[in-house]
Amino acid sequence: MYKYEEIAESLAKQIRSGNLKSGERCPSTRQICRQFKVSLATSVQALSILERQGLVEARPQSGYYVRSAVPPSALLKKTDSAPTAKIATTHVIAGPMVEECIAAARNPLLAPLGAATPSATLMPVKALMRAFALSARELGPDAMLYELPAGSEDLRRQIARRTPLSGFEVSADDVIITNGGMEAISIALRTTTKPGDIVAIESPIYFGILELIADLDLKVAPISSHPSTGLDIDCLTSVVKQKKVAAIIGIPNFNNPVGGTMPDGAKKLLAELVSAADIPFIEDDLYGDLYHHGTRPVAVKSFDRTGNVIYCSSFSKTLSPGIRLGWSIPGKYHDAYQKRKSINTLSSPTWSQSAVANYLKGNAYDRHLEQFRRILVEQVHQYIHAILQCFPEGTKVASPQGGFVLWVQLPVGVDSQKIWAEARANKISIIPGYAFSAAGDQFRNFIRISCGHPFNRIMEKAIKKLGLLTGKVARE
Ligand SMILES: Cc1ncc(COP(=O)(O)O)c(C=O)c1O
Repeated sequence: MYKYEEIAESLAKQIRSGNLKSGERCPSTRQICRQFKVSLATSVQALSILERQGLVEARPQSGYYVRSAVPPSALLKKTDSAPTAKIATTHVIAGPMVEECIAAARNPLLAPLGAATPSATLMPVKALMRAFALSARELGPDAMLYELPAGSEDLRRQIARRTPLSGFEVSADDVIITNGGMEAISIALRTTTKPGDIVAIESPIYFGILELIADLDLKVAPISSHPSTGLDIDCLTSVVKQKKVAAIIGIPNFNNPVGGTMPDGAKKLLAELVSAADIPFIEDDLYGDLYHHGTRPVAVKSFDRTGNVIYCSSFSKTLSPGIRLGWSIPGKYHDAYQKRKSINTLSSPTWSQSAVANYLKGNAYDRHLEQFRRILVEQVHQYIHAILQCFPEGTKVASPQGGFVLWVQLPVGVDSQKIWAEARANKISIIPGYAFSAAGDQFRNFIRISCGHPFNRIMEKAIKKLGLLTGKVARE
């Protein structure tokens, strides 16, 4: 590593840890010269690396400043949402258009701004391959047999060992392994609801959950989600008072797509609410480990005293979606949940469970997460910066404090269905906002952009093209 790269890394660390806050002045080139005992040219090079990474910006005659991800004028402060006074329930309409969007998001021939998947280049592929090889040697022919319905004890122990990071403590017996987060949520819903029941859902919400709800023939009561503080607890309280709610689903940490995170006080109120009303809260915490600064936000589960929270997560966003491993900590629904898991898929794959358990035993996962988070902060910054440069005036962007999806509000009147179709014709995948709404009629001028892939030339061109298309549609 060259000296200027070392200096850039040291300053980047200060920014990421919050020691240098957004809007604050960076050390000047002369201060860097003195502090690191380097030439002026070296300190200029270090600052230009940070500028390229989108972490600082040069201000004429004033020096370098830590860049806020989104300037106040372009910061998305609210998402149009369900009214709080009169709560309407609706069936989910997962129309063919949504299916087409999802298929396009998974099409490898398109610039991948659609699916919320980290690039394989950011996954610890070699270490995982080694873990698989070790498991094959250790298990021998047993790798070919069924696991227990609850899952490998080894893996459950590793998962339980990590729960204090999310603010609670459980044992391996409390954990049930699933085939990814989707199965964890699906079993939670199947265990606690029957067709026709009402489920209160954070809105907007990940479209996979909406498809699942449609498939189970449930009705939904949408609860608005704020770009910074997540699920609106007042709105939820009023829904629970007015309707017979069978279950609640939310993404309290770095909601997909909006990006908000509930403050601890609201999480505590939520845990108390579901406990008092005796309703299950299905907590989707797939993105909790991907915080951009500081420490991991706790889970609602950490305030759960009655077992009403069914915690769900997976390794899809942090390690590999192809491994298809997730888990649930179903609280008081444990036995019913385990029975459903057994009926659903009998058990999850033996070999992958053993491999991931082996991988989790050392500190490789923590080191990977640390590096991955560092990359994500920069990547998300780069995408935000490009969107604000290339999209027409009136565009607003949420500023998520974790995860890697961006909720973008297009200028008033721009229909994201048109943008989606034009983008598709230009070999770019995005997800239009309405795919995240239950009735398919909200968030029409929103799109979700995934920042899971390094911001290279292809992505830069794709964002530029999207900006041009949005400008064109806005003028029509
Ligand atoms: C919020 C959320 N929940 C659940 C899932 C499904 O996760 P998995 O791939 O582990 O089934 C996703 C995937 O995008 C997601 O974003």
